[in-house]
Amino acid sequence: MRLDAHWMPFTDNKAFKHEPRMLASASGMYWRTAGGDQVLDMTAGLWCCNLGHGRKKVAEAMFESAQKLDYAPSFGFGHAAAFELAERLAELSPGHLNKVFFTNSGSEAVDTALKMAMVYQVARGKPGKKMFIARERAYHGVNLGGTAAGGLNYNTRDFGRWAAVDHISSTLDIEHNAFSKGLPEYGIEKADELENLIDFHGAENIAACIVEPIAGAGGVIVPPVGYLQRLREICDRHDVLLIFDEVVCAFGRTGAFTASIKFDVRPDLFTSAKGLTSGTVPMGAVVCSDSLYETVTAARSGIEFCHGYTYSAHPIACAAALACLDIYLEESLFTRAGEGIGQYLEHILHNLKDLPRVIDIRNYGLLGAIQFEEAGANEEPLGVRVFRQAWNNGLMIRGLGSTIVISPPLIVEETHIDEFAEKIWQAIKAVSPG
Ligand SMILES: Cc1ncc(COP(=O)(O)O)c(C=O)c1O
Repeated sequence: MRLDAHWMPFTDNKAFKHEPRMLASASGMYWRTAGGDQVLDMTAGLWCCNLGHGRKKVAEAMFESAQKLDYAPSFGFGHAAAFELAERLAELSPGHLNKVFFTNSGSEAVDTALKMAMVYQVARGKPGKKMFIARERAYHGVNLGGTAAGGLNYNTRDFGRWAAVDHISSTLDIEHNAFSKGLPEYGIEKADELENLIDFHGAENIAACIVEPIAGAGGVIVPPVGYLQRLREICDRHDVLLIFDEVVCAFGRTGAFTASIKFDVRPDLFTSAKGLTSGTVPMGAVVCSDSLYETVTAARSGIEFCHGYTYSAHPIACAAALACLDIYLEESLFTRAGEGIGQYLEHILHNLKDLPRVIDIRNYGLLGAIQFEEAGANEEPLGVRVFRQAWNNGLMIRGLGSTIVISPPLIVEETHIDEFAEKIWQAIKAVSPG
């Protein structure tokens, strides 16, 4: 097979084409490679296949929808599945979050949320509030707003920042919090940086603060005890909206429908994608408060929010999401990460603490990270090397620089976690015999 034409996203194209990793099929917790090898999926693809692979009920719902209504334009037209899905998401969301806007990805959900915050401020007579406060080491997707809000410098270095954003510090603090289980104890005062930046830029210029409740692609950075609550208080004091980017956290990853429910902190808007359709078909959503929606829709006659996508609320995506919601509820998967299986993962992960060059292990729900020492001058980052070694051992994890992260499908069982432990132990030992 020729590999030349496809320019792959977020990939070292030259290295991949030299040594390809080709997936051919997937079922349950496993991939099958083009060469016929079985690989344990400890990443749910890209944090998205929460229900595991090959769910027949989802495939059938998509097939049925494709035959009945292959497409429906979403500007000025509707179809039943879109309204049903919005209704069900509103019911699951915290009390005041009842309005749902559909997108096709997490990146689109983030840029939609940023624009919603701006249109809301305009609608209430505060058009100067156009700026955002985000956080270092954040990942908010790759569209221009999300890129600007992101806090991983390699994602902005070629593009600059096309929206007005300033950043508070990441809460990652290995010096004080290394090997924390669940929420780390130290660091609530880092939230006060938000107040400092609001004072510096002026609340009259700031539309919203956007954070991931748990930063995913930054390396599974779990918020310190009380930190998110304090962000909420500061936003309230200064008339700034709070956006939670729940593209990774929503749909059961932390042990509840959303992290905002789990942590009992209520944002004004939250984004989601990934788990919404369990990765089967692209779809994202922004859920916002009734008051935001009512303010915007009351302010103008005609089209109130000049924003939307050709494929917003695509019928096939809606059908997939509805079938996924049924499965989440039938199998109690929203809460499972907060139960015994999450604790088992925590136990097994922290058992790896004495392996060579490991400097931190952190976890929450069914999210985990192992951080290694920074690589030497001519050395490839250890997380990347461990990732490659693990792949050769039949294990998919993610290597993000010096860190590896895991986010298994929510159907993971103890036997899979044991298999992961064995394979990751071998991979770390092989890469860094210590
Ligand atoms: C927190 C967060 N926001 C946004 C995105 C972007 O989502 P997508 O890749 O679907 O555009 C991601 C993707 O990993 C994410 O982790």
